[in-house]
Amino acid sequence: MATSSIANGNLPVSQSASSSASAPLVSCDERLFRDNFNRLPFEVAHRFNGHPLFELSRLVELAQEITSRNDPHRPHGDAYCLIGTPGHGDKALETSKPIRQVSETIEQIEKANGWIMLNHVERNPAYQKILEDGIADVLQLTGRQVKNKIKWFESIIFVTSPGRSTPYHVDRECAWLLQIRGDKEIHFFPRSNKQAVPDEELERFWAVDNQAGVYKPELEDQAMVFMMKPGTGTHIPVNTGHWLKNGSDISISMNLNFVFHDRLWGNIYKANHMLRQRGFHPTPPGQNTVKDTVKGVAWSALRRVNDTLKKRPYQPDVAKEQNARIFKQMEGRW
Ligand SMILES: [Fe+2]
Repeated sequence: MATSSIANGNLPVSQSASSSASAPLVSCDERLFRDNFNRLPFEVAHRFNGHPLFELSRLVELAQEITSRNDPHRPHGDAYCLIGTPGHGDKALETSKPIRQVSETIEQIEKANGWIMLNHVERNPAYQKILEDGIADVLQLTGRQVKNKIKWFESIIFVTSPGRSTPYHVDRECAWLLQIRGDKEIHFFPRSNKQAVPDEELERFWAVDNQAGVYKPELEDQAMVFMMKPGTGTHIPVNTGHWLKNGSDISISMNLNFVFHDRLWGNIYKANHMLRQRGFHPTPPGQNTVKDTVKGVAWSALRRVNDTLKKRPYQPDVAKEQNARIFKQMEGRW
């Protein structure tokens, strides 16, 4: 087990002299970034901790706004609440509740043994500027070449009770997980570890089952383990297996996510899932650029027809507007 303790980050926004471009909200070692971006997890620093927008009382107000949205990104709403600690392999998110109970649970989070997820926080006007500034700092690191890969950005705030674990799972997003309050340890299994993260699991994850990732306790000694505290965080590449455990305080953390176009990841895995079900042994993404491109483009074309028939936009207007705002900001920085 490789354990790493992250040194404290820069001064939080509320304590720094200014939040100018010279003091990035999110930062990391440039060589680590260059070598490992969207490939292996690594440590980052941030300055969101200490900002009043991340105090519990403000998060209760935010939860109330999010649960009353008429046009959420997610079909069942943008706020989720789960009480009790699920084990690895439990269908946790499926039993979570996208309901008004979210704001009450945040108020009682110390004793609730709960997990709250507030999605697309950046759509709230009070949070928009600071979160888009944080995303811009990450884009400064990635460089202009990432622009054509981005479907949309999102930020998610997690509020969880002391001592609580989040079971093993994989995610679709390329994420920066930033710890704002409390300590949290995170155990990673990079997607290059095919024993821990087999292609068949990833295909099922993208095609049919959000919780297809299976924790393998016998591989725990292969985990990369990071200890996060306020002002620190980790980069989580697409499809990295991970599970988390809080320390003895309430935990407030935030994901800044890049969601890539479907043709680059999801559609290739979906095509492979279909091929495998028909007896083929498809090439995993990343090994053959031509095959990846053909699968990604073909599946995207099918999906576009389906979306058109169902009058479902590929990108909501609110996401297009945000992309335009952020990329405009980057024109002066790239
Ligand atoms: Fe996750």
